[in-house]
Amino acid sequence: MAVKYLEEYKIFKLDTAHTSYCIGIADVEGFLGHIYYGKKVGDEDLNYLLRTCEPPFVPFRNNRDRTSFYDQFPFEYSGNGLGDYRESSIIVRTPEGGCGVLPLFESYEILEKKPKLQGLPATFDNDGKALVLHCGDPALGLKVDLIYGVFEEADAITRSVIVRNDGEKPLWLEKIYSVCMDMEDRGYEMLTLHGSWARERQMDFRSLGYGKQSVGSLRGETSHQEHPFLALLERGADRERDGGQDRGEVYGLQLVYSGNFLAQVEKTQMNTLRVVMGIHPEGFCWKLQPGESFTAPEAILTFSDQGLDGMTRSFHQVIRKHLIRGPYRNRKRPILINNWEATYFDFNTEKLLKIAECAAGLGIEMLVMDDGWFGHRNDDSSSLGDWKVNEEKLPGGLSALAEGVNRLGMKLGIWLEPEMISPDSELYRAHPDWAIRLPEREPALCRCQYVLDLSRREVRDYVFESVCAVLHSANIEYVKWDMNRQLSDLGSAELPADRAGELYHRYVLGVYELQERLLAEFPELLLENCSGGGARFDAGMLYYSPQIWCSDDTDAIERLKIQEGTALLYPLSAMGAHVSACPNHAVGRVTPFETRGFVALAGTFGYELDVTRLSEEERAQIPEQIRLYHRYNDLVREGEYYRIASYQRNHEYDCYMVVSRNRREALVTYVQVLNRPNYRSRVIRLKGLDPAKRYLVEGLKHLEGRRIGGDALMNAGLTIPGMWGDFRGMLIHMTAE
Ligand code: DGJ
Repeated sequence: MAVKYLEEYKIFKLDTAHTSYCIGIADVEGFLGHIYYGKKVGDEDLNYLLRTCEPPFVPFRNNRDRTSFYDQFPFEYSGNGLGDYRESSIIVRTPEGGCGVLPLFESYEILEKKPKLQGLPATFDNDGKALVLHCGDPALGLKVDLIYGVFEEADAITRSVIVRNDGEKPLWLEKIYSVCMDMEDRGYEMLTLHGSWARERQMDFRSLGYGKQSVGSLRGETSHQEHPFLALLERGADRERDGGQDRGEVYGLQLVYSGNFLAQVEKTQMNTLRVVMGIHPEGFCWKLQPGESFTAPEAILTFSDQGLDGMTRSFHQVIRKHLIRGPYRNRKRPILINNWEATYFDFNTEKLLKIAECAAGLGIEMLVMDDGWFGHRNDDSSSLGDWKVNEEKLPGGLSALAEGVNRLGMKLGIWLEPEMISPDSELYRAHPDWAIRLPEREPALCRCQYVLDLSRREVRDYVFESVCAVLHSANIEYVKWDMNRQLSDLGSAELPADRAGELYHRYVLGVYELQERLLAEFPELLLENCSGGGARFDAGMLYYSPQIWCSDDTDAIERLKIQEGTALLYPLSAMGAHVSACPNHAVGRVTPFETRGFVALAGTFGYELDVTRLSEEERAQIPEQIRLYHRYNDLVREGEYYRIASYQRNHEYDCYMVVSRNRREALVTYVQVLNRPNYRSRVIRLKGLDPAKRYLVEGLKHLEGRRIGGDALMNAGLTIPGMWGDFRGMLIHMTAE
């Protein structure tokens, strides 16, 4: 049984295959305490870990020092304003203006499945039951449900929170996190992902100091800059050494949400840690009328004693099996060619069909027409919102293009940016108030555009109907849904003053609603999310699209870092990755065409170039890359991912592998970024193989045709010869007898 109430001990216990999570009720007043999260333990009375017998004296014994108790008790969900001076998880303001809240335990339910979260993406089909702890604060008439889902096989636990105003007066929710976890500090390091445009999700390690350390976004989306994730790593997890990512204890937390977030660790005077994660409280205030409720997004928690590799495998499994939906979830995606880096805005049907014709001959399966096909958009200064085809560029419209592309045996996909409005658009001229803006200010432009106020139903309906009209007008089988600016000037013409603080979150709910409606209308559509590259690559968006464009930086070497950080949390099947032309448009680097292919094969795989203008030599390599895609994509999509070496950290070479679930097949990708003079070959130790199986090694000349035991490959390793020149790569394939 994955969820239990150990009544005798007043302990709730959530067990996954290898972990336990324990929550205790501390004596009479119903304080809920976090007892333990970590490696699996037996059904013990661990309530002593709440340390209510130690000074400061507890309220229900002598009541002489409540605030000190509040300030030290390991709350499962911390309150605010009453004496716990650490980070609060919830702030509630009353009509009188005061704040003070402490949810206390009232009752519980153990359910087979987690309840759905209204309007929000969330994991589903948990294989290990769910727990709802009904808490409340009678002074406010507030109910707080803490919801836990157990994924036994994946070793993951989810948390979310629903609050309801059961009183008679309105309340204002000024903060609501999804997770609060109090724990002992064992000298952990913190890992987060940071970045910028063209260099998303780079790993950043720091040691924990006293006080608060956090990452977050106030950009209205998860952002290029920081990521809704944090991990705590036991020291000595030996991450610096190649292959060392499979050692040590690691806690990983990520939020299934695509808007403003905060992820924070606070080290306290008592050397404990309070970890919180949820919607960023800045700019957030949600009015709860009597009877209304608010649902906080879900967070996914993992604990692994097999280092970051273990955390990654748990996240991948939950996301692959229990978050991504739709017909493409387990399906090979069509190999696409996108015209963005090929033509930018300068294209027409003739040019696109020329690219498509050449691509079809090489085995490419879908043409994606990117930005610039609508309104009078020939650069980024106009037409967003006017989703009418530009017949000057595309005579006969989308249907003529689709027919031409389909005649070549290819599918057609298109680019859309439905959340935006250009000041130079018919839409803006008709509805200037549909842009998010503050009444007293001229809103700030970014990429010459404003953001549509998706908190308004009429705006969402317009967007939905115009997108549907486009997709019904031709045989369009894929959409790249882009979002090219972050939010500013937060104001809505419709929200009343005491609901103005709801806009950020309502915007995100609007995006989710639109994508849900789109998928219901076009159930076979392949949707790829995108945001100026990878600014909204998060678990929330993966609920709607099985893949997300990783980054506008398509350089194979930069991608090693971006894809390592991305694959730390997300399955390779979700990473939009293409081969592009050189010199690379982001960094001007020239890399071998072959290496660009190897790196893109770790993701969804496609091309982002004008195939008609490639050199003969490069073009001739495409059929071979396509053969590799067809041969290995099942393994890449469904296999387990292991990190062998990190270019991000060793600055010389990168290596990772995927292993099939039955451990009969494996594929190693090795990229020698910089060659080294006068060295012998490099020895790498593989992971995840079956020690008892013997593997036929393919791709290494000196070992070609040799069968080597899994135990030897994992412990003694393989020798990888140096390659002449920089930026060279290789694939090594292994099959067991
Ligand atoms: C940003 C995307 O990441 C690019 O791939 C491209 O679609 C442009 N937007 C188009 O404006």
